[in-house]
Amino acid sequence: MTSTLTGRHLVLALSGGIAGYKTAELVRLLTQAGASVQVMMTEAACQFITPVTMQALSGRPVILDQWDASAPNNMHHINASREADAMLVAPASADMIAKLALGRADDIVSLTALARPLERCPLIVAPAMNRELWAHPATQRNVGQLRADGAQVWGPAAGSQACGEVGDGRMLEAADLAERLEAWFTPQRLAGVRVLITAGPTFEPIDPVRGITNRSSGKMGFAIAQAAQRAGADVTLVAGPVALATPAGVRRIDVQSAQEMLAAVLPLAPEHRVFIATAAVADWRPATIAEHKIKKDGSGAAPALAFAENPDILATVAALPGAPYCVGFAAESEKLLEHAQAKRLRKGIPLIVANLGPATFGRDDNALLLIDADGARELPRAPKTDLARHLIDELAQRLHRA
Ligand code: CTP
Repeated sequence: MTSTLTGRHLVLALSGGIAGYKTAELVRLLTQAGASVQVMMTEAACQFITPVTMQALSGRPVILDQWDASAPNNMHHINASREADAMLVAPASADMIAKLALGRADDIVSLTALARPLERCPLIVAPAMNRELWAHPATQRNVGQLRADGAQVWGPAAGSQACGEVGDGRMLEAADLAERLEAWFTPQRLAGVRVLITAGPTFEPIDPVRGITNRSSGKMGFAIAQAAQRAGADVTLVAGPVALATPAGVRRIDVQSAQEMLAAVLPLAPEHRVFIATAAVADWRPATIAEHKIKKDGSGAAPALAFAENPDILATVAALPGAPYCVGFAAESEKLLEHAQAKRLRKGIPLIVANLGPATFGRDDNALLLIDADGARELPRAPKTDLARHLIDELAQRLHRA
């Protein structure tokens, strides 16, 4: 799997705080995503987590002070900040934030932050402290100054704190920080664009305990939601029953049946610039839903089910006056291009994404064929997360032209 973090080099600087333990996980996530991480720690940080842990996880010696002679030029603060694509101070203690706001430089972290080239190496700060330290006017003043100086301040989150109090000051979780870094390095090709997405299967009830569904996992739709969000879009995801976590920053609405999905989508569609229908919507639903569980009657005869056709959500949205730019999906088992192109025209949509149904359901990878009025373009087999990113790029180009 590739990520926008692949090949990036980051300085991860720890100041003193209990949240230091979260940075061990963060280093794992960043290196797994293909980034290299240079850890530096203040003396206070070493009270909370050891450099041994951070060296083992990052695969590099940790820089512990400005007098460390291991760099040939004896200038770790210069070397580290020149190599890095970003410097993340996490946890950022109240004291470290005060130092950064003042431009002090008497430890390796504040020194490196001050020595970094402003235009090439952004400073990102993840505060972590007790809620009273955070709320103090001095801290708030310092945070305001940091922002005014161009730093990004990510968090803190609210919740229960290590001290037993509850409030603002928790450092963001490692996964949140990794996700924000991922978005930070993603070109903002959909900045501010409102994108509505359907995903997953639908569930069409037969009686209170049974229903008809399909094997769609929702993975492709969720990956697209995440990729769009990372590219700066404002994303609403209408999901059928799936066991997937909501991508960070995405608004999610859960539904069960095709009719519920339509009811959720219709009022939202006019407010969105793009509609991407990845859901595997059941074409048919049981015409009536039994009020009580259908019982065996002893005769051996199976109950007869009558079906009614479900509304076509995509076609309905595409036919709205001032419809959003609509992207459909087509799962075929043969004649991919021919069937999908016909489907695109039938539904009246500018772009359809075709794939071979049996080769995608439930899997983490897929291969796609993008078909529009100009022809077809293949996205070869790759993880769905990679395909989602390419699809968002392709979409952004088409929106730009439209
Ligand atoms: N779709 C929808 N509402 C439906 C059915 C499909 O929004 N009731 C959307 C899907 O989300 C997908 C596209 O339409 O984007 C798929 O079209 P569909 O006609 O369902 O394809 P197939 O079921 O593969 O059609 P066919 O049986 O004709 O192959």
